Amino acid sequence: MCGIVGYIGSLDSQSPAEILIQGLKRLEYRGYDSAGIALLNKDEIYTCREIGKVKGLEDKWLAAENTVNYQVGIAHTRWATHGKPTEENAHPHRDSSGKIAIVHNGIIENYQSLKKHLVNAGHEFYSETDSEVLAKLIGYHYKGDLLQAVTDALNQVHGTYGLVVACKDEPNKLIAARKGSPIVIGMSDKSSIIASDVSAIVSHTKHVIYLDDDDLAVITPGNVDILDLNHRQVSREVQELDWDTDSTQKDGYEHFMLKEIFEQPEAINNSIRGRYNLSIGNAILSGLSGVDKELASISQIIILGCGTSMHAGMVAEYAIEELAGIPVKVMQAADFRYRNPIVGPNDLVIAISQSGETADTLAAVKEAKQKGAFVIGLCNVVGSSIAREAGRGVYLHAGPEISVASTKAFTCQVSVLLLLALKLGRSRRLSLAQGVEVAQAIKSIPAINQLLLDKQFNHIATIAPAYTQAHSMFFLGRGYLYPVALEGALKLKEISYIHAEGYHAAELKHGPIALLEEGTPIVALLNDIEGKDKMLGNVEECKARGARILGIITEGDTQAAEICDDVIEIPSSHKLSTVLSTTIALQLFSYQVAKLKGCEIDQPRNLAKSVTVE
Ligand code: AGP
Repeated sequence: MCGIVGYIGSLDSQSPAEILIQGLKRLEYRGYDSAGIALLNKDEIYTCREIGKVKGLEDKWLAAENTVNYQVGIAHTRWATHGKPTEENAHPHRDSSGKIAIVHNGIIENYQSLKKHLVNAGHEFYSETDSEVLAKLIGYHYKGDLLQAVTDALNQVHGTYGLVVACKDEPNKLIAARKGSPIVIGMSDKSSIIASDVSAIVSHTKHVIYLDDDDLAVITPGNVDILDLNHRQVSREVQELDWDTDSTQKDGYEHFMLKEIFEQPEAINNSIRGRYNLSIGNAILSGLSGVDKELASISQIIILGCGTSMHAGMVAEYAIEELAGIPVKVMQAADFRYRNPIVGPNDLVIAISQSGETADTLAAVKEAKQKGAFVIGLCNVVGSSIAREAGRGVYLHAGPEISVASTKAFTCQVSVLLLLALKLGRSRRLSLAQGVEVAQAIKSIPAINQLLLDKQFNHIATIAPAYTQAHSMFFLGRGYLYPVALEGALKLKEISYIHAEGYHAAELKHGPIALLEEGTPIVALLNDIEGKDKMLGNVEECKARGARILGIITEGDTQAAEICDDVIEIPSSHKLSTVLSTTIALQLFSYQVAKLKGCEIDQPRNLAKSVTVE
């Protein structure tokens, strides 16, 4: 989950230090408990590290007033896996000779045994990290050939790595390597940049190469040679990015999260554009063209994901079962990968991941393929590991999602999954008229969401203060809105640090209702769709025990409004659209509560945008 940047090239408008620090800022959402930079030429390696955000590192670098002409550098922003966030544990890490520096993302599982071997060989350690062990191991193997030293070290390593290595005795190159943690390389005519993901590269070039597991890369200014661990040449496709620099900036919003909440109507439009046909009442998913026979033979669908992506899959479970009549099972990706899942050739496995780099979801895709399942990926990042491992699927086209709290990715995931449910349904029992109704509902989603944003943004800001002191909050929903309750609770807890739980409303009586005290806030999804009448009863049971009710209701529903202390009104719409506009209302609610609490909204404590470690 750390952010890695490497740069090699001629000095043009910016120095390597500026390019590296700017790159770290673009990657900071991946991890931000400490950061560091190493710059080198044939005479020296200069290292600067600092705990906290990248800004602290930048200030420290500028204060050093280092005017040496470097042309190579590596940098890192950390999400701690081994050892506390301290300057000693911050990357880059060095070998014993001081000639070699590395930045590493991943986990070296056998680092203790390697460390013991190195200590016995006389190496001394300054940090608690597994990454320093890797640096020392590369130094241990270095005999004047950096590529060979890296190769020999990696052949001893068990675990995962996204790695960039620099050596002052070979200052005209960088070595990169990948196993389980993403590495992407961008080249322009006079320089090359390596990073954990494209947001650090897109301002330099739109043409990138993603390394695959067990790839090594020898990177020089404007060029890259990619090899396997036996140093045989391998070729990797050059991908063209469909993002631009502006899309990774805040554009005047106070937080990326707020920007991405407001981007949702446009983002969803981009996700569904050209992917439905009203005249035939069907979906057109080019990423699934030519596989209608396989789709027709599936008997079960398993949806894999983590966090918000798993919640999107839970919405799809209701939609696919209702529209296509195919049994759907949603599984947490780590649970799937380790339980020897019962899955095979007649099963469709859908892997959902915004980043396309979540380690558990990637491993689950590999396991599903081992068992012969028909696997598709639903990712936002083009060329990401899960997209490539799945081999086929549908891209979200939601644009970069920078804020750690996922918002537009969820609504775009659900929108695309509704299209898939329509496609599966129309290849089975869904009639033309029913298909047209669903296609119309999907088409209406962006406009309904825009209406919600326009009409409720200010109102939600006025009700949020009543909830900032809550110690715990419950989100209740039924049917399609049950996953929305889970997602709403996740949003609140991950950015405001208020403990929140989502429950199926019927579940409360089976224990959790014991937690209710006078004033306990309950967010009840009382939208006027199936399940509302039972929801009204559940809310009355909570009120009878002193709970404070924030009702998410359909606009104008006075019956529901009467039993609530506060309401947020959702425009009346097809239930498939209601699911998403309700979600957006909860995103705004969580945002306003977190903002009033002065929380670090875009980079919440302990979290990172992409969980690339198990
Ligand atoms: C959601 O707000 C969190 N950022 C987190 O649950 C996230 O959805 C999860 O880690 C999955 O990430 P992915 O979609 O990139 O695989």
